[in-house]
Amino acid sequence: MTNRFSFSLKATDGRARTGTISTPRGEVRTPAFMPVGTAATVKAMLPESVRDTGADILLGNTYHLMLRPTAERIARLGGLHDFMNWQRPILTDSGGFQVMSLADLRKLDERGVTFKSHIDGSRHELTPERSMEIQRLLGSDIVMCFDECPSLPADESRVADSMRLSMRWAERSRAAFGDRPGHALFGIQQGGVTPELREESAKALTDIGFDGYAVGGLAVGEGQEAMFGVLDYAPEMLPHDKPRYLMGVGKPDDIVGAVARGIDMMDCVLPSRSGRTGQAWTRRGQVNIKNARHQDDPRPLDESCGCPACRSYSRAYLHHVFRAGEMISGMLLTWHNLHYYQDLMQGLRDAIAAGRLEAFTDEFHALRAEGDI
Ligand code: GUN
Ligand code: ZN
Repeated sequence: MTNRFSFSLKATDGRARTGTISTPRGEVRTPAFMPVGTAATVKAMLPESVRDTGADILLGNTYHLMLRPTAERIARLGGLHDFMNWQRPILTDSGGFQVMSLADLRKLDERGVTFKSHIDGSRHELTPERSMEIQRLLGSDIVMCFDECPSLPADESRVADSMRLSMRWAERSRAAFGDRPGHALFGIQQGGVTPELREESAKALTDIGFDGYAVGGLAVGEGQEAMFGVLDYAPEMLPHDKPRYLMGVGKPDDIVGAVARGIDMMDCVLPSRSGRTGQAWTRRGQVNIKNARHQDDPRPLDESCGCPACRSYSRAYLHHVFRAGEMISGMLLTWHNLHYYQDLMQGLRDAIAAGRLEAFTDEFHALRAEGDI
């Protein structure tokens, strides 16, 4: 175990990469999928169960935790790792993005953003400096710069102004973060779907210098084709020797396409959230367990899956507990979905290491085209 943050590439296949992020709290195999633990829990899962699915790292949220139970309280209780009983790496998002989608009465200026809590209406301010302080109090291993991100489609001039503000905030984030051995700070590229703005943003971030670089501002309403269009050039603008993180993505086919285009890390609420609404993800695509076609089906969700939901329960049972509103429904489907996502990541890592990513993606798409049978 190292006491520093580092990234080493093991193999590449086309633009895809596989490697390892080393941190004092453990290693992260890349490409990595980070389950989302917004409120200091991956909903419906014990941390050891999340680990059993194959996760090396979780994502936490500045915005939610600053409002409840507050970063100061978590710090007094020993930090987020002890608080939530997850001793491996944690990446925290910086709050700006969540303020824009969740908070009420937002006011944004050069200094930062003031807003009212969506929980109790109380007033708060987030600035680059305050976001760095909160992420330090939480004890986050990978800290994200404070940024802003317009939802798409948006005017190019609005996207340019927003990106340039985020780059000034990136500089303030870097200065406020300081020098913290063993902890990493990632910059976030913005610029919408405009190559020149993405390039300007990449240059600004690279000049400041970060431990890793995120591609932000995607999966905000532009659609998969436009997102892949950006991913055809944006990751290559970022340093090759640092991890590249695509924020808030995505569905399994988004992940496969992003990894093929040079992305090393991703996070999304989809596997956990959709588990609680009766949606399962399998090699054959999406399965809606609510559907009456499952009510007499003795087969598992996916006979090739090794998760507890597939090893020990029938589709008929999963259908029944969902319909009956039983808590085990969300638990089993979340477990399955996270397991499927981590299996997919392992498959991608192995395929890249073996130089057979194209065969792997062809097979991935062929099975999904057959559908759930
Ligand atoms: N999550 C998804 N997209 C983004 C983004 O552009 N910025 C931040 N901070 N978080 C995100
Ligand atoms: Zn399963």
